[in-house]
Amino acid sequence: MIHLAIFASGTGSNTQKIIDYFRYHSAVSVSLIVSNQPNAGVLSIAAKEGIPTLLLEKERFVRGDGYVPELQKRHIGFIVLAGFLWKIPSPLIAAWPGTIINIHPALLPKYGGKGMYGSRVHEAVLANAEKESGITIHYVDELYDHGNIIFQASCPIVEEDTPETLAQKIHLLEHVHYPLVIEKTVQLQNHR
Ligand code: GRF
Repeated sequence: MIHLAIFASGTGSNTQKIIDYFRYHSAVSVSLIVSNQPNAGVLSIAAKEGIPTLLLEKERFVRGDGYVPELQKRHIGFIVLAGFLWKIPSPLIAAWPGTIINIHPALLPKYGGKGMYGSRVHEAVLANAEKESGITIHYVDELYDHGNIIFQASCPIVEEDTPETLAQKIHLLEHVHYPLVIEKTVQLQNHR
Protein backbone atom coordinates (compact mmCIF):
# COMPACT_ATOMS: atom_id res chain seq x y z
CA MET A 1 0.00 0.00 0.00
CA ILE A 2 1.29 3.49 -0.89
CA HIS A 3 0.32 5.97 1.80
CA LEU A 4 -0.61 9.43 0.51
CA ALA A 5 -0.39 12.61 2.55
CA ILE A 6 -2.52 15.49 1.26
CA PHE A 7 -1.29 18.97 2.19
CA ALA A 8 -4.19 21.44 2.06
CA SER A 9 -5.21 24.63 3.78
CA GLY A 10 -8.52 25.60 2.21
CA THR A 11 -12.02 24.22 1.87
CA GLY A 12 -10.69 20.95 0.54
CA SER A 13 -12.98 20.17 -2.38
CA ASN A 14 -10.06 18.50 -4.20
CA THR A 15 -9.13 16.61 -1.05
CA GLN A 16 -12.67 15.25 -0.83
CA LYS A 17 -12.53 14.05 -4.45
CA ILE A 18 -9.16 12.39 -3.88
CA ILE A 19 -10.44 10.64 -0.74
CA ASP A 20 -13.53 9.43 -2.63
CA TYR A 21 -11.47 8.15 -5.54
CA PHE A 22 -9.05 6.11 -3.41
CA ARG A 23 -11.58 4.94 -0.80
CA TYR A 24 -11.55 1.30 -1.95
CA HIS A 25 -8.30 1.36 -3.92
CA SER A 26 -6.12 -1.73 -3.62
CA ALA A 27 -2.75 0.02 -3.84
CA VAL A 28 -3.15 3.63 -2.65
CA SER A 29 -4.63 5.03 0.54
CA VAL A 30 -5.11 8.59 1.77
CA SER A 31 -3.45 8.21 5.15
CA LEU A 32 -2.82 11.74 6.40
CA ILE A 33 -4.17 15.27 5.93
CA VAL A 34 -1.61 17.98 6.63
CA SER A 35 -2.58 21.62 7.12
CA ASN A 36 -1.20 24.90 8.39
CA GLN A 37 -4.67 26.34 9.10
CA PRO A 38 -6.33 25.18 12.32
CA ASN A 39 -9.74 26.26 10.97
CA ALA A 40 -9.38 24.88 7.45
CA GLY A 41 -12.44 23.15 6.02
CA VAL A 42 -10.18 20.32 5.00
CA LEU A 43 -9.69 19.39 8.67
CA SER A 44 -13.46 18.89 9.07
CA ILE A 45 -13.36 16.61 6.04
CA ALA A 46 -10.53 14.62 7.65
CA ALA A 47 -12.51 14.33 10.90
CA LYS A 48 -15.63 13.18 9.06
CA GLU A 49 -13.61 10.62 7.09
CA GLY A 50 -11.63 9.42 10.11
CA ILE A 51 -8.28 10.31 8.51
CA PRO A 52 -5.45 11.41 10.84
CA THR A 53 -4.29 15.02 10.61
CA LEU A 54 -1.10 16.92 11.21
CA LEU A 55 -1.13 20.66 11.93
CA LEU A 56 2.07 22.44 10.89
CA GLU A 57 3.82 25.13 12.83
CA LYS A 58 5.63 27.57 10.50
CA GLU A 59 9.03 27.84 12.15
CA ARG A 60 9.51 24.06 12.35
CA PHE A 61 8.25 23.57 8.79
CA VAL A 62 10.28 26.33 7.15
CA ARG A 63 13.48 26.35 9.19
CA GLY A 64 13.36 23.13 11.18
CA ASP A 65 13.11 19.48 10.13
CA GLY A 66 10.21 20.10 7.70
CA TYR A 67 8.28 17.45 9.68
CA VAL A 68 10.22 14.77 7.78
CA PRO A 69 10.50 12.40 10.80
CA GLU A 70 6.77 12.82 11.47
CA LEU A 71 5.89 11.87 7.90
CA GLN A 72 8.38 8.99 7.83
CA LYS A 73 6.91 7.63 11.05
CA ARG A 74 3.57 7.44 9.24
CA HIS A 75 5.15 5.66 6.23
CA ILE A 76 4.12 8.36 3.76
CA GLY A 77 5.19 7.37 0.26
CA PHE A 78 3.73 10.18 -1.83
CA ILE A 79 2.74 13.80 -1.12
CA VAL A 80 -0.08 15.64 -2.87
CA LEU A 81 -0.55 19.40 -2.50
CA ALA A 82 -4.15 20.55 -2.97
CA GLY A 83 -4.45 24.21 -2.03
CA PHE A 84 -1.34 24.42 0.15
CA LEU A 85 0.30 27.85 0.07
CA TRP A 86 3.62 27.53 1.89
CA LYS A 87 6.74 26.77 -0.07
CA ILE A 88 7.92 23.17 0.42
CA PRO A 89 11.28 23.25 2.29
CA SER A 90 14.34 21.41 0.98
CA PRO A 91 14.44 18.65 3.65
CA LEU A 92 11.02 17.50 2.43
CA ILE A 93 11.97 17.66 -1.24
CA ALA A 94 15.15 15.70 -0.51
CA ALA A 95 13.28 13.03 1.45
CA TRP A 96 10.55 12.56 -1.22
CA PRO A 97 12.36 12.99 -4.54
CA GLY A 98 9.96 13.04 -7.50
CA THR A 99 7.08 12.10 -5.23
CA ILE A 100 5.56 15.48 -4.36
CA ILE A 101 3.04 16.98 -6.79
CA ASN A 102 0.91 20.13 -6.87
CA ILE A 103 -2.13 21.37 -8.76
CA HIS A 104 -2.31 24.96 -9.99
CA PRO A 105 -5.49 26.63 -11.31
CA ALA A 106 -3.97 28.05 -14.53
CA LEU A 107 -1.87 27.02 -17.49
CA LEU A 108 1.69 27.31 -16.17
CA PRO A 109 4.22 28.76 -16.79
CA LYS A 110 1.81 31.69 -17.04
CA TYR A 111 -0.02 32.95 -13.94
CA GLY A 112 2.12 31.13 -11.37
CA GLY A 113 4.54 32.10 -8.63
CA LYS A 114 4.33 33.56 -5.16
CA GLY A 115 1.03 35.31 -4.45
CA MET A 116 -0.66 33.75 -7.48
CA TYR A 117 -3.41 31.74 -5.85
CA GLY A 118 -7.19 31.66 -5.57
CA SER A 119 -9.17 34.38 -7.33
CA ARG A 120 -6.00 36.43 -8.00
CA VAL A 121 -5.09 33.91 -10.69
CA HIS A 122 -8.46 34.14 -12.43
CA GLU A 123 -8.53 37.95 -12.17
CA ALA A 124 -5.13 38.15 -13.85
CA VAL A 125 -6.16 35.73 -16.60
CA LEU A 126 -9.32 37.74 -17.34
CA ALA A 127 -7.49 41.08 -17.16
CA ASN A 128 -5.22 39.83 -19.95
CA ALA A 129 -8.21 38.85 -22.09
CA GLU A 130 -6.98 35.28 -22.42
CA LYS A 131 -9.07 33.00 -24.60
CA GLU A 132 -8.50 29.97 -22.41
CA SER A 133 -7.34 28.94 -18.99
CA GLY A 134 -6.98 25.57 -17.29
CA ILE A 135 -5.14 23.47 -14.75
CA THR A 136 -1.57 22.32 -14.37
CA ILE A 137 -0.40 19.36 -12.33
CA HIS A 138 3.36 19.39 -11.77
CA TYR A 139 6.19 17.99 -9.68
CA VAL A 140 7.21 20.22 -6.80
CA ASP A 141 10.67 21.72 -6.57
CA GLU A 142 12.06 24.49 -4.40
CA LEU A 143 10.43 27.30 -6.39
CA TYR A 144 6.74 28.18 -6.43
CA ASP A 145 4.76 26.55 -9.28
CA HIS A 146 7.96 25.60 -11.06
CA GLY A 147 8.68 21.83 -11.29
CA ASN A 148 8.23 19.67 -14.37
CA ILE A 149 4.71 19.58 -15.74
CA ILE A 150 2.90 16.23 -15.62
CA PHE A 151 -0.49 17.18 -17.03
CA GLN A 152 -2.52 20.15 -18.29
CA ALA A 153 -6.17 20.53 -19.29
CA SER A 154 -7.75 23.69 -20.61
CA CYS A 155 -11.18 25.31 -20.79
CA PRO A 156 -12.40 28.13 -23.00
CA ILE A 157 -13.05 31.61 -21.60
CA VAL A 158 -16.18 33.40 -22.79
CA GLU A 159 -16.87 37.11 -22.62
CA GLU A 160 -19.36 36.73 -19.78
CA ASP A 161 -16.86 34.96 -17.53
CA THR A 162 -16.08 36.47 -14.13
CA PRO A 163 -13.41 35.28 -11.68
CA GLU A 164 -16.19 33.26 -9.99
CA THR A 165 -17.46 31.48 -13.12
CA LEU A 166 -13.90 30.78 -14.23
CA ALA A 167 -13.09 29.39 -10.78
CA GLN A 168 -16.05 27.02 -11.10
CA LYS A 169 -14.90 25.72 -14.48
CA ILE A 170 -11.38 25.23 -13.15
CA HIS A 171 -12.58 23.39 -10.06
CA LEU A 172 -14.54 21.00 -12.25
CA LEU A 173 -11.42 20.23 -14.28
CA GLU A 174 -9.42 19.72 -11.11
CA HIS A 175 -11.96 17.35 -9.59
CA VAL A 176 -12.10 15.19 -12.73
CA HIS A 177 -8.38 15.00 -13.43
CA TYR A 178 -6.42 15.26 -10.18
CA PRO A 179 -7.31 11.83 -8.72
CA LEU A 180 -6.54 10.10 -12.04
CA VAL A 181 -3.23 11.88 -12.48
CA ILE A 182 -2.26 11.10 -8.88
CA GLU A 183 -3.00 7.42 -9.49
CA LYS A 184 -0.90 7.32 -12.66
CA THR A 185 1.99 9.25 -11.13
CA VAL A 186 2.08 7.08 -8.01
CA GLN A 187 2.16 3.94 -10.17
CA LEU A 188 4.90 5.38 -12.36
CA GLN A 189 7.14 6.16 -9.37
CA ASN A 190 6.47 2.77 -7.94
CA HIS A 191 7.64 0.93 -11.04
CA ARG A 192 10.97 2.70 -11.25
C1 GRF B 1 -7.43 24.65 -6.15
O1 GRF B 1 -8.00 25.53 -7.07
C2 GRF B 1 -5.99 24.38 -6.52
O2 GRF B 1 -5.71 24.53 -7.87
C3 GRF B 1 -5.23 25.39 -5.74
O3 GRF B 1 -5.97 25.55 -4.56
C4 GRF B 1 -7.33 25.26 -4.77
C5 GRF B 1 -7.82 24.35 -3.70
O4 GRF B 1 -9.22 24.24 -3.72
N1 GRF B 1 -3.87 25.01 -5.59
P1 GRF B 1 -9.96 23.26 -2.73
O5 GRF B 1 -9.60 23.65 -1.31
O6 GRF B 1 -9.51 21.87 -3.06
O7 GRF B 1 -11.42 23.47 -3.00
